Amino acid sequence: MTIPFRVGELVTGEFFTDRVEEVERILGAMRDPTRLLVYGERRQGKSSAIRFAAERFEQDGGVLLWVDVSTASSFGDIARRLISSVPYSWVWRQDLQTKLLRASVRIEARTDLAGNPVLALALEPLPGSTEHGKEELQRSVRVLDKLAEERNVKIAIVLDEFQQIAELVDRGEWVLRDLMQTTHNLSFLCAGSRASLIDQMLSKDGAFHRFFEPLNIRAMDPEHLAAWIGDRMRGSGVQPQDGVGHEIVRLVGPRTQDCLQLARAVFVAGQQEGAASVETVKAALRQSAMQDGDRFETAWSSLPRSQQLLLRAIALGEEELFSSKTARKHGLPPSSSISRALSALRAKRHIVEGEEPRIDDPFFRVWILIRAMPDGLPGGS
Ligand SMILES: Nc1ncnc2c1ncn2[C@@H]1O[C@H](COP(=O)(O)OP(=O)(O)OP(=O)(O)O)[C@@H](O)[C@H]1O
Ligand SMILES: [Mg+2]
Repeated sequence: MTIPFRVGELVTGEFFTDRVEEVERILGAMRDPTRLLVYGERRQGKSSAIRFAAERFEQDGGVLLWVDVSTASSFGDIARRLISSVPYSWVWRQDLQTKLLRASVRIEARTDLAGNPVLALALEPLPGSTEHGKEELQRSVRVLDKLAEERNVKIAIVLDEFQQIAELVDRGEWVLRDLMQTTHNLSFLCAGSRASLIDQMLSKDGAFHRFFEPLNIRAMDPEHLAAWIGDRMRGSGVQPQDGVGHEIVRLVGPRTQDCLQLARAVFVAGQQEGAASVETVKAALRQSAMQDGDRFETAWSSLPRSQQLLLRAIALGEEELFSSKTARKHGLPPSSSISRALSALRAKRHIVEGEEPRIDDPFFRVWILIRAMPDGLPGGS
């Protein structure tokens, strides 16, 4: 039996659901030179929505260049990733190579790990020089822009986790802004999680104030997600009892990935009997949380006591964190320390930013309730 849910990778085809309007918007932005900001909470499905739209874009002859900024360590890396994502079989490849050489950017043909030929920028290593990589990136992007114009081809550049550019060099986001503003035939799709870094870049004094067309990837409609999860299970041989899909979304929603992760665990648990009940869902949630126990324990033990106390209270669903009743009940520190602990937990991404206090990872929440309550007994429901 194949598992009908994929988790932790970019999903396409039958593993992808919903997002009809978002995919249309993304596709439109790829086809006409646009600067689109695809943002939303973590694990909601930003990258998958772009990947899904990209398949249609590529089928129509568009060229999509995908750069993951989160693991790049310099502008030079971004330039290299950009060029190596150019499809080797592309009809205008020769033209691109010639133009890059003319722009004094050295390129080489190499083979990737799978043995396929790829293009690669060969930057001279100049240790410590950020200017260097910046210039190569500018030149490479301008060459692509020219090619798009002369050959009338559609080229879309995806910068995933683009906000990390601000961490690469001082004022890195302004370099990116300049790059996007001085090209006219390329589409730029920047994706990132809505965190303080993005907020800051979009603010009045930020590099991207009123710069992008925004597209918010929100939580999926819970009814749709619950029904789809049920259908996928049924289609692969596990009969879900009434309410299984809803229970999954209720317990770990609203992030798509969390729902899919639990759905997968429920499916696997139900495989032997060919059925899954609401009880299967509860057991699978506990099991999934405990499977990640090592990671959660490390995270927990690295937190100061005030933050641990606060997390316990939030895990139990406490909303009035500053009331004296809550403070007594959970042994919380004085209000000023609570504010500081909350900011620290937000910065560490344990708590969702800018909303009612909520633990970011629902599996961590369950682990806290099972393993980290003061009396060692499971708390909450
Ligand atoms: N439209 C979808 N249909 C089905 N599953 C989805 C969909 N979108 C996301 N998922 C699930 O969520 C997981 C994470 O998706 P994705 O990486 O696209 O999210 P993201 O918002 O880019 O996350 P991050 O904040 O980590 O960058 C996928 O591996 C998949 O399990
Ligand atoms: Mg992503």
